Amino acid sequence: MDNIHVFENRDELSDFFAREISEKVKEKPSKETFSIALSGGSTPKHIFHYLSLHYNQKINWERVKFFWGDERCVSPEHPESNFRMTRENLLDHINIPEDNIFRIKGENEPSSEAKNYEKMIMKNIPSLNDIPVFDYIMLGLGDDGHTVSIFPDQLNLFDTDKLTGVATNPYTGQKRITITGQLINNARKIAFLVTGKAKAEMVKTIVEKKQGWQDLPASRVNPSFGDLLFLLDKEAAALLHPDS
Ligand code: 6PG
Repeated sequence: MDNIHVFENRDELSDFFAREISEKVKEKPSKETFSIALSGGSTPKHIFHYLSLHYNQKINWERVKFFWGDERCVSPEHPESNFRMTRENLLDHINIPEDNIFRIKGENEPSSEAKNYEKMIMKNIPSLNDIPVFDYIMLGLGDDGHTVSIFPDQLNLFDTDKLTGVATNPYTGQKRITITGQLINNARKIAFLVTGKAKAEMVKTIVEKKQGWQDLPASRVNPSFGDLLFLLDKEAAALLHPDS
């Protein structure tokens, strides 16, 4: 499949991603901004750090609007906050206006914050077919096949007609705010960024449609009109058939 890119290591994957963002920002008409929903968890840490080290001057961040695909229902200072991880590894190191940062307020009551976030997205991102169109959605992949905070036991959050929802991490009970399948699949470009051997089995299941793939949230990612990429390091791609 030509939408699968395998990289020697995380730095090469990060550089490919950074160049993508850089090129897409430049392609935007001068009066428009580039909207991206960022993934959370641990994988993006290295990628954001790489961006802040090597692209802090190469991208006109004033033309970028940062959203998140999901957020844990914790304060922005909490160690598990995706916003905190992004701030520490990227936002504190680039010149981006505060107004370009659309934080999910994990400290708020989850269902009202999900509604607030949906309104914020609707207000700040142009729509097509009445659904906002992100220029880019960055996704992680859980080893159980979840993506954003849509877990296998909550597939309704992928198929709902709402743009955001409240999820529960089935392993910890932690509440999370997440964007839904409606938003994900209406993006211009979606990229799974996956590293490490712990993800190799799940990458194979999703990419090669192995047993049970249909029941996994990540398998539902199928852009209506945009592009879908898999950016994998060698370890995450280790079990893929060469013809995949
Ligand atoms: C989160 C996510 C989640 C993440 C995957 C992979 O808030 O945790 O957005 O979907 O991308 O769980 O997480 P790791 O990168 O930590 O493996």
